[in-house]
Amino acid sequence: MREGTLHIGPSAVPYRYGAHCLPELCEAIAQLRPASAVLALDAAVQSHAEPLLEQLRQHMPVHPFVIDPHENHKRLSLVESLMDHAVAVGADRTSVVLAMGGGLVGNTAGLAAALLYRGVRLVHLPTTPVAAFDAVFSLKQGVNLGAGKNLSGAYLAPSLIACDLSWLATIPRPALLTGIAEMAKNVLAVLPDWESDFTDALAELEFRPLEAFDSLFALGLHAKAPLLATDPHERHGALVFEYGHTVGHALEAASNGAMGHGEAVAWGMLAAAEVSAQLGHLADADLAGHYRLLAHLDLPPARIALGRFDRGALADRLAIDNKRGHLPSAPGSNPMVLLRRLGEPVRGQDGRPLIPVPAEMALDAFEKVAATEVM
Ligand SMILES: NC(=O)c1ccc[n+]([C@@H]2O[C@H](COP(=O)([O-])OP(=O)(O)OC[C@H]3O[C@@H](n4cnc5c(N)ncnc54)[C@H](O)[C@@H]3O)[C@@H](O)[C@H]2O)c1
Repeated sequence: MREGTLHIGPSAVPYRYGAHCLPELCEAIAQLRPASAVLALDAAVQSHAEPLLEQLRQHMPVHPFVIDPHENHKRLSLVESLMDHAVAVGADRTSVVLAMGGGLVGNTAGLAAALLYRGVRLVHLPTTPVAAFDAVFSLKQGVNLGAGKNLSGAYLAPSLIACDLSWLATIPRPALLTGIAEMAKNVLAVLPDWESDFTDALAELEFRPLEAFDSLFALGLHAKAPLLATDPHERHGALVFEYGHTVGHALEAASNGAMGHGEAVAWGMLAAAEVSAQLGHLADADLAGHYRLLAHLDLPPARIALGRFDRGALADRLAIDNKRGHLPSAPGSNPMVLLRRLGEPVRGQDGRPLIPVPAEMALDAFEKVAATEVM
């Protein structure tokens, strides 16, 4: 089992990752000595939760709250329902909120933990690659508003991140692969030297999934830890993790939840790479490197996946992107993470990895991606 401490600014966050390690994970939760636990539970992982509940209940009362994880449900109303449930079952300030599921459950339960009694402890029990290797390494807890993705939230350090990698084995292969797009982002935007570790892990996924998950965990932690240590609120250097998320978030929101986060980010990275190349920052070889790497994710044909998106709807979503305000950007322009080469973002005058890009240019780049086959 891998155990250690992730430093996010001044917060020291313990983590435990392993395969078939439920007793160790339950012991780590029990050591927090909560009066009780409220388990925000992704409906798809109830079978994984049963043995967890059985073991945890030897240490504390545990009250499940099942969440149907649709992106349209990731709203303040769901956070409120979870908090109402917590109060109704007797949770007090010493209770913990356990978030077992994908990034959606993690973000929702994370915000509930930040708000309940002005903050109770949060334990992440991630069950998807997006959650286990990316989203949980963050203080950002938040949900969508009707106006757009992740527009309301708070910062809260988890008290523990605990993952039995065998939980991830029940994810269907297409969702598994696209969910790994955030790891491709880490290779493209932060750690290009890890490309072969990444592709080796993908090759292992089918036959030795637990070993593959372990490698992807190492990649996620290695990419995020150094930047989060000095930029806990992800407002400076760690903004590089927003690579692909400008067009990606617009796609995810415009699809009304039909396109998963990972797939949307994959297309968003190709659009960001096209913009980077068009502005003369990124060499053709590195642009081609994007298409080559993302081809490993078996994305659906671009013309099918992207053909149904309306330019006007995407423009509306770009206009409310949650990175607005990081930079003084002219109307009709979006702060975007661009690359000057693999692993190296273009930095603006303030040193941050954000460059204002006219929305029309981002949309043109998206249309170019939609007309290109990812092979
Ligand atoms: N820093 C951050 O906070 C951060 C980073 C990345 C993504 N996110 C957020 O995370 C969300 C995306 O997370 P996600 O990709 O995990 O999606 P998700 O949470 O929506 O889960 C995707 C699907 O997988 C199912 N599922 C979960 N675990 C499973 C398992 N073990 N077996 C079978 N099915 C399983 C879920 O029921 C759901 O249908 C988005 O809302 C995104 O905004 C947040």
